[in-house]
Amino acid sequence: MSDFSKSTNITWHQSGIAPEERATLLGHRPALLWFTGLSGSGKSTLANGVARALHDRGVHTYVLDGDNVRHGLNKDLTFSAEDRVENIRRIGEVARLFADAGLVTMTAFISPYRDDRAQARAIVGEAFIEVYVDCDVAVCESRDPKGLYKKARAGEIGNFTGISAPYEAPENPELRIDTSTMPLEECVAQVVAYLVARGIIEERD
Ligand code: ADX
Repeated sequence: MSDFSKSTNITWHQSGIAPEERATLLGHRPALLWFTGLSGSGKSTLANGVARALHDRGVHTYVLDGDNVRHGLNKDLTFSAEDRVENIRRIGEVARLFADAGLVTMTAFISPYRDDRAQARAIVGEAFIEVYVDCDVAVCESRDPKGLYKKARAGEIGNFTGISAPYEAPENPELRIDTSTMPLEECVAQVVAYLVARGIIEERD
């Protein structure tokens, strides 16, 4: 992993609250669901659907979304390959803090490069769960919820993932969700069932 550190004379402060203490208070273990997929594949919709389903079961959640984070923390970054690397690195670090806080966090970023996702996994540690939001580029383009594919085809947006920039599909994701054929509720149910099977949240009585 690259080390960009420029700070010196800094000390890592250990939290006085153990992860198990947080889990006991919250009633579930932490997890970081890393949704990756093309623009328009349904990452944000699925992440928010899972957040709603979990919240309704009393689980503490948060969604970090690509478009939202690019409005603030990462507004200095473009869609060049180099800036996408930095985008994902920062999200990985933020995701780690959310996992430390004990939440079940969802990140919804295209995160097109395998190496970057591997780096995020290394930063976050065992809470990391990669979810491949699998949807064919033709389906994403036909949905085109933000009209961006049309602009990319017209040459008005450069470096557009799936059109003029690459997307490297996950090889061994913990979960692969097919959003092109399954209804949203079924996609959400698959993710929730996985969290129950992993013992992160409790089965509903
Ligand atoms: S990532 O590739 O760096 O992970 P991120 O998820 O933060 O991307 O942002 C993707 C969102 O930015 C898309 O859903 C889309 O709304 C918007 N966007 C704007 N320009 C581009 C582009 N060139 N490629 C992909 N998405 C873009």
